[in-house]
Order: sequence, then C-alpha cells, then structure tokens
Amino acid sequence: MRNDISEILLSEDELKEIVSRLGEEISRDYEGKNLILISVLKGSVIFMADLMRAVKIPCKIDFMAVSSYGSGTKTSGEVKIIKDLTESIEGEDVVIVEDILDSGVTLSYLKKLLLARNPASIKICTLLDKPERRKADISADYVGTSIPDAFAVGYGLDYAEKYRNLPFIGVLKPSVYQ
Ligand code: IMP
Ligand code: MG
Repeated sequence: MRNDISEILLSEDELKEIVSRLGEEISRDYEGKNLILISVLKGSVIFMADLMRAVKIPCKIDFMAVSSYGSGTKTSGEVKIIKDLTESIEGEDVVIVEDILDSGVTLSYLKKLLLARNPASIKICTLLDKPERRKADISADYVGTSIPDAFAVGYGLDYAEKYRNLPFIGVLKPSVYQ
C-alpha cells in the first residue's frame, strides 16, 4: 500500500495539529448553540472521529452518504443520496464535515438540500481544499489546509475504496490509476 504513494502531503503530526486547531475554532464559534456535526461518509469518517474529540462543547453527530464519483478520480457531476440523516435538523446549527472540497459539486448540492430543512445555520468544515479545481460557487467556512491538484489518499480518503486506512495523507502515484 505504502509503495503506491509518491509523496506525503500531511503527516500524522500535521493532521493532529490541523484537527485540534479546527476543533478550537468550532468550540469557540458554537459556544451556547445547538451544534450538530454532520459527517459525509465515507471519506470524512476518520476526520470526524478526531474532530469531534477536539470539539470541547456539547454537540450531536449524524451521518450522510452521497456519491458523486464512481471509482474514478474525476467527478461525474451527479450526486446521489445513499444514506440520509436519522433526525431532523430544524433549528440546529449544522456543521457539515467533509474530507475534501474539490469541484464543490457535492457540497453545494448537500448544502442546498440541508438548507431546505430549516436549520438555524449551516457551515462547512473541510479537511482539505483543492481551490484550483472548483466548478461550483462554494467555499468552506473552516479549512484544514489547501492542497495542490493531485489525487490524495489516506486518513479516510480513498481511490476505488482503498487506502482509507493509511494514517497520513499522501499523493497516489498516477501509475496506479492510469
Ligand atoms: P467534489 O464534488 O468534486 O467537490 O468532490 C468531493 C468528493 O470527491 C470528496 O468528498 C471525495 O470523496 C472525492 N475526492 C475529490 N478529490 C479527491 C482526492 O484527491 N482524493 C480522494 N477523493 C477525492
Ligand atoms: Mg467524500
């Protein structure tokens, strides 16, 4: 698995630092509010598990699964709900937790969909941002870090459902998917 990685983008220590900074920001901004963290499966699952422990105020969690990718490395432009939330978010202060904001198609669709359910507020927290590849008019309110336009795997991010269990984030060698 490690042999398929050309370069480490974020080490375990760097990830820890990023997540604790984001947790502090969210804890400060949502003090006294009805915070609910909504993790977008499956890519954000490790980020979510670490982020929720870095949040020091009471919060709820829920999960959604959408798909826009198939098994390739480029977006298809289509978003499908595979698993919906278990409870209403009416009156809640929602933070969507995503692994990566790429074209933005997934998150702009998801944000619109959740806004229609009358939350008190809705913001986006993404671990990674690839601003060069943006197609939809959307940006995140909390960003771990921006990365260049390369295919990243590990710490939840996959290529064809593999590499999610790498504890760091690396660049996948193009020879693996070409
Ligand atoms: P978007 O709709 O193009 O913003 O795509 C967002 C989704 O695409 C993410 O939640 C990931 O699942 C996937 N994705 C985008 N870029 C990468 C990458 O570099 N590595 C792994 N998954 C990616
Ligand atoms: Mg994802």
